[in-house]
Amino acid sequence: MVKTLPFADIQVPVPGFGAMGLSHGLGTNLSLEEAEPVLLKAIELGCTFWDTAVVYGAGVNEKLLGDFIRKHNVRDKLFIASKCGFDIKKGSVTGGVTNSPAHIKEYIDETIERLGFTPDLYYIHRIDPKTPLEDSIPALDEIRKAGKTKYIGLSECSAKTLRKANSIAKIDAVQAEYSAFETIHETDGLIDTAKELGVAYVAFSPLGHGWLVDDSNFKSPDDFAPDDFRRTVPKFQGENFYKNLAIVEEIKKLAAKKGCKTTQVALAWVAAQGMISIPGTTKAQRLEENFAATDIELTEEEKKEMRKIIDAAKPAGNRYNEAYQAMVGH
Ligand SMILES: NC(=O)c1ccc[n+]([C@@H]2O[C@H](COP(=O)([O-])OP(=O)(O)OC[C@H]3O[C@@H](n4cnc5c(N)ncnc54)[C@H](OP(=O)(O)O)[C@@H]3O)[C@@H](O)[C@H]2O)c1
Repeated sequence: MVKTLPFADIQVPVPGFGAMGLSHGLGTNLSLEEAEPVLLKAIELGCTFWDTAVVYGAGVNEKLLGDFIRKHNVRDKLFIASKCGFDIKKGSVTGGVTNSPAHIKEYIDETIERLGFTPDLYYIHRIDPKTPLEDSIPALDEIRKAGKTKYIGLSECSAKTLRKANSIAKIDAVQAEYSAFETIHETDGLIDTAKELGVAYVAFSPLGHGWLVDDSNFKSPDDFAPDDFRRTVPKFQGENFYKNLAIVEEIKKLAAKKGCKTTQVALAWVAAQGMISIPGTTKAQRLEENFAATDIELTEEEKKEMRKIIDAAKPAGNRYNEAYQAMVGH
């Protein structure tokens, strides 16, 4: 039976699917034909809560999903989230963050054009400290009222921003990092605030960017492709790479005892926190393995064991380099 979690006024199947890595950030850029097996597998299994963003390949990822959905006529089976907030016209991520009302209004229309339909959920991807929330949030609310998205959200925001934004207009979702390998938002108030306000928490990188897996593609920091963003992340560089293997080894032992995969324990852990995870993969077989986490329940004993592992193996190194770090936490 597929597990579901509440999202605003509906239930959604978990885990969901993060489409970023098909086109952006992880050293891969797949054509429609290359992406079809993993996307068709997701449809077949009922893994239908999908995540994309304008910045992923500067529109390429949205267009890829749009082309796939049109070709297979599967719009009605899917919940599609996208995000604006990076000025891709000045250069993908390097164009910088902007949340001006003009940006939001222009980018939602371009998202709709690339997808071929209105998304279910539209987030602001990063918070622009130069634009007051009193300007950006009403603009986001306006596109919801105009029917250009059903739900609205914020990504990588602080607890304070979430609270203030939600006082201006109802925020349906917050998207932020969470995994057994990255629990920073347990202590900075974001998770507690989302719970208190009834805002759904969508956990990105729930496998710790491919860290909490049995068969890692990466045996050393040199194995990341030249354009893989993990090359720039302190957690995955130098001696941190080797120190941070400790957590994987411990979760592997727990998974072996339970008779399942490390990824499945990692994803079941996120679901046990009431969060909607959106793991990414470019491979159909891995999507099947990951989505099978929907059937994995951790016992109270196993949850205690996971908590012990997480507390003992806090990651060494920041989750972003300095340039990216400057864009988060606002
Ligand atoms: N809001 C934000 O700012 C933000 C930031 C980052 C990510 N996200 C969203 O979150 C999604 C997921 O994040 P993510 O891709 O960074 O991290 P992730 O889901 O934690 O990990 C993805 C990585 O894990 C590997 N992988 C997946 N399943 C595997 C398995 N069963 N065995 C071995 N390796 C496996 C994938 O490689 P293969 O492709 O080779 O399988 C890929 O390199 C993204 O697609 C995006 O939608 C949002």
